Amino acid sequence: MNKNYSAIVLAAGLGTRMKSDLPKVLHKICGISLVEHVLINLKEIHIDHIAVVTGHRHELVEKELGEGYVYCFQKEQLGTAHAVMQAESFLRSHKGRVLVLCGDAPFQDSKSLSDFIDYCEQKELDLGVLTAELEDPAGYGRIVRENGTLSKIVEKKDCSAEQLTIKEINSGTYCFDTEKLLDCLCEFKTNNAQGEYYLTDSIEIFLQKNYKVDAFKSRNPDIIRAANTMAELYDCEKLMREKINLMHMLDGVRLIDAASTYIDRGVSIGKGTVIYPNTSISGNSAIGSNNTILSSRIDNCVVGDNNVIDNSTLESSYIGNDVHIGPYAHLRPNSRLDDHVKIGNFVEVKNSVMGENSKASHLTYIGDGEVGKDVNLGCGIVFVNYDGKNKYKTIIEDGAFIGCNVNLIAPIKVGRNAFVAAGSTISKDVEDNALAIERSKLIVKSGWNKK
Ligand code: UD1
Ligand code: CA
Repeated sequence: MNKNYSAIVLAAGLGTRMKSDLPKVLHKICGISLVEHVLINLKEIHIDHIAVVTGHRHELVEKELGEGYVYCFQKEQLGTAHAVMQAESFLRSHKGRVLVLCGDAPFQDSKSLSDFIDYCEQKELDLGVLTAELEDPAGYGRIVRENGTLSKIVEKKDCSAEQLTIKEINSGTYCFDTEKLLDCLCEFKTNNAQGEYYLTDSIEIFLQKNYKVDAFKSRNPDIIRAANTMAELYDCEKLMREKINLMHMLDGVRLIDAASTYIDRGVSIGKGTVIYPNTSISGNSAIGSNNTILSSRIDNCVVGDNNVIDNSTLESSYIGNDVHIGPYAHLRPNSRLDDHVKIGNFVEVKNSVMGENSKASHLTYIGDGEVGKDVNLGCGIVFVNYDGKNKYKTIIEDGAFIGCNVNLIAPIKVGRNAFVAAGSTISKDVEDNALAIERSKLIVKSGWNKK
């Protein structure tokens, strides 16, 4: 933990330009909300003492982020400086420096933040602002320098024609001496085009007091990117996706078509894994090495090594090693496939375990099941787990063989090395090594059709 720093993340805004009921900062890119990206970036540089200013639909934001932050409520959204004013008591609780960041800017990664902090420390700044140059400065605040020295930040709506052409842009991230910021909190005014308390005015306020102020220009223009509209959100997600995919490729993961591979931030993938087009890997998934993943959706799964996952959907489940899944299989939540398991075409597994080496190659439903090792499930088996009111368990012990087109009416247990004949509907337990067969007698009436 970096004890010299605390941070305030501004996340109270209405996000009007997003035209969405969801608060802007809760919109997700690569599986994680904008504001959470900012918080993860801060944690990566070991800043753990963090206040989040919330306002618009604050209960939603606080619920999503959970405990571990100091929440400061901004009742009316009167501007970025007004947002910081709501964190006054948080500021009083901490000496040293405080970073202030916007909750809608996910690309200020640990590298750019720590370079910025280093600069502020070296220059012993009372206020540093992180900037970058953009070919199209769009709606961002312009960095105005006089003879190369920072003199103020002007919002687009307040710019003169000349200022509009400035390409150095305010990232919205600042590093303040905490006590000096507290001293200035009452000095912000609303004499600007939007009638808001602008945090950008802190530059002029600090300069008037002869405090040491400077801008640190990052060489990476991406750090500026913020999502104010759905179109910018799309651009941000595309950029984040490219960065994530690049990182995995540099770690030895083979992406056949990175443009159609969607991997959430925080997913881990081992080297030698090959991912074919139209695959998404989301949530808290951890994928091992040397897997082959063909056009699949994997959400919140732990996957071992050397598996083949072919055109399948896997949700909140655990997969061992050397497992073959698909094509067209569906692993529903809370399932576990141990090593060397095979589930094939149109097999659905829900809340079930399949032990080592067990197979269900075709058209089978395994619901609430506990399948042992070396079990063979033929084609078209149904674990009849639901009586309209309750769900029941099916247990199949090691080495059992279940023939095709069998219904197993739960609760039921099939013993070790037992054999269930094709076409049977089984409603009583089958003991170890037994044969269970339930079929009506076959009748063949010769010449019946001619009569
Ligand atoms: C702000 C900066 C601009 C900078 C840009 C970088 C100001 C006046 N302008 O502009 O110079 O280039 O960020 O992205 O600071 N917020 C609150 N309470 C409020 C208003 C805003 O918490 O009353 C939060 C928002 O939720 C958002 C952040 O502050 O996360 C920035 O606000 P936003 O309205 O997006 O500012 P910009 O116009 O983008
Ligand atoms: Ca913004």
